[in-house]
Amino acid sequence: MPIHRLPEHLINQIAAGEVVERPASVLKEVLENAMDAGSTAVEVQLEQGGVRRIRVADDGCGIPQDELPLALERHATSKIASLDDLERVGTMGFRGEALAAVAAVSRMSITSRCERASHAWRIDADPRQLAPAALNHGTVVEVADLYFNTPARRKFLKSEGTEFAHCDDVFRRIALARPDVAMQLGHNGRISLRLPSGRREARVRALLGDDFLAAARSVDAESGLLRLSGFASLPAYSRSSRDAQFFYVNGRFVRDKLVTHAIREAYADILHGSRHPAYVLFLELDPFGVDVNVHPAKIEVRFRDSRAVHQFVYHALTRALAASAAAAAATAEAPGPQAESAAARFHPPPQQGRLAMEPAARAYFDFAAAARPETAAGFTPAVFAARPAAAAAAGQAAPALPAGDLAPPLGYALAQLHGVYILAQNESGLILVDMHAAHERILYERLKLLLDGTPGVQRLLIPAVFGVGARDMASAEEHAALLERMGFEIGPAGPQELAVRSVPALLAAAPVGELVRALLAELRDYPATEVVTARRNELLATMACHGAVRANRSLTVPEMNALLREMEATERADQCNHGRPTWTLLSMADLDKLFLRGR
Ligand SMILES: Nc1ncnc2c1ncn2[C@@H]1O[C@H](COP(=O)(O)OP(=O)(O)O)[C@@H](O)[C@H]1O
Ligand SMILES: [Mg+2]
Repeated sequence: MPIHRLPEHLINQIAAGEVVERPASVLKEVLENAMDAGSTAVEVQLEQGGVRRIRVADDGCGIPQDELPLALERHATSKIASLDDLERVGTMGFRGEALAAVAAVSRMSITSRCERASHAWRIDADPRQLAPAALNHGTVVEVADLYFNTPARRKFLKSEGTEFAHCDDVFRRIALARPDVAMQLGHNGRISLRLPSGRREARVRALLGDDFLAAARSVDAESGLLRLSGFASLPAYSRSSRDAQFFYVNGRFVRDKLVTHAIREAYADILHGSRHPAYVLFLELDPFGVDVNVHPAKIEVRFRDSRAVHQFVYHALTRALAASAAAAAATAEAPGPQAESAAARFHPPPQQGRLAMEPAARAYFDFAAAARPETAAGFTPAVFAARPAAAAAAGQAAPALPAGDLAPPLGYALAQLHGVYILAQNESGLILVDMHAAHERILYERLKLLLDGTPGVQRLLIPAVFGVGARDMASAEEHAALLERMGFEIGPAGPQELAVRSVPALLAAAPVGELVRALLAELRDYPATEVVTARRNELLATMACHGAVRANRSLTVPEMNALLREMEATERADQCNHGRPTWTLLSMADLDKLFLRGR
């Protein structure tokens, strides 16, 4: 065959292969056009998963009669005119190829009326035909019989249900980004989603549910030219799949490796590997800082300064997630969804609780005034005995806690339940704390600091001596330097015996032999150089687990209060190292409900 130019129609059909993968991709392009046209209300109707028909009606600016034929041409667009425009593009579309591609593989028509026009016009793609039509305002795009003329592609379409599910995804993604636009989705004559225009939070609630919002922190961070806002779930709400992860760059839904990585890192410390966080996050930056013209469907982007974006997303999210219970309570004044949930938790119902709080508070202050760190020796909350600051908190700082107005968020301890839970009351109701999980978390956070600084060391009066196998002997020797940096002084006491002479002060109360054996097991298969970087957090987790107070250890009320105060002062204390919650609140309202009170 000699070289020849391909006919326009075939070119478009080839291009369609890139842009129009399935009905959902048609819907995405047509919906984005409606958004670019400045619509305030958009209605989508699908038939048979969008394969039979996709109809999108908007109330946007419309297309003038003389431009209608151009709208169906390839590389015809009203959104950019120069390379400069391309580099700062703010609209969803700009390539000017979507309608041409869709028209090449379906039966398509556009009816449109712009404001100045006395009536609407309708254009059919094939055969190309322009005729007067009836329409009040805006644009209606109809795409019927997708792939009717390209059977090879049609074969790749899945069942109606699957195709509809993809359309539904696309619709939701766009809807999340555009709460200012009223949107409706119908399928086979039935309305499946109706979303009024409103605030972002209401849209997120409508699409992701109350429980997502209740378990999410709101994120709003700004740094230089970058801004990140939205909602990210606390680990307690994690899901087993990635279906609730929405990330937008300048209003465009993207899947970006860099961003995904930053988010995963931010959760790495608090979420178990097989669980996935849920989030709706919007990154905004100067359009110049991001290249959206990387992928025909624009699902990927390229950042000019990708390191800065990674850092920023990571830190913004880490900060939002780390805010401890106390911090959340402190920001409860600020309006916004985060404040709402935090406030619901901590904001005392006006005055009511005060009197009832008195006795527990009294007991606490009496304890705090009289306490010596040694008082707590039974349980030796090492967290407590070890740090001078914490010891001071136990000794003097506590009485300074303003009684009344600023009652601590986690309240005052009442009792211990079955050696597992601490019961406490705050102004809103009953607080239940999983004491081992909470203590473990506190230790873990403290230990993280320990590797970076000089650990407080507790010398043992009598060295702890215990028998170990040959491999443990070897790894104790190999990792001696690291262990010493962490506060462990360990040496051989015989051919098969180790003697521990000191431990990190934080872990003074831990069963030494058990702790060191677990650590050596953790270290065993790793060369010394790799441990600190690759295994660091696992090491610390092992230490925290062994150092944390065990179930069935009975705690005194002062010890329990000390733990509550430590939790308030610790970042990420709301979850244990495995992402489970460490405490929960049964509000008076919850309790009233249990007893059918006030019905
Ligand atoms: N719903 C709509 N309302 C107003 N104008 C539209 C609409 N849909 C498409 N257009 C016009 O048709 C042109 C071509 O659309 P398209 O092929 O999707 O390319 P692009 O969106 O990349 O510009 C757009 O630039 C726009 O001017
Ligand atoms: Mg477009």
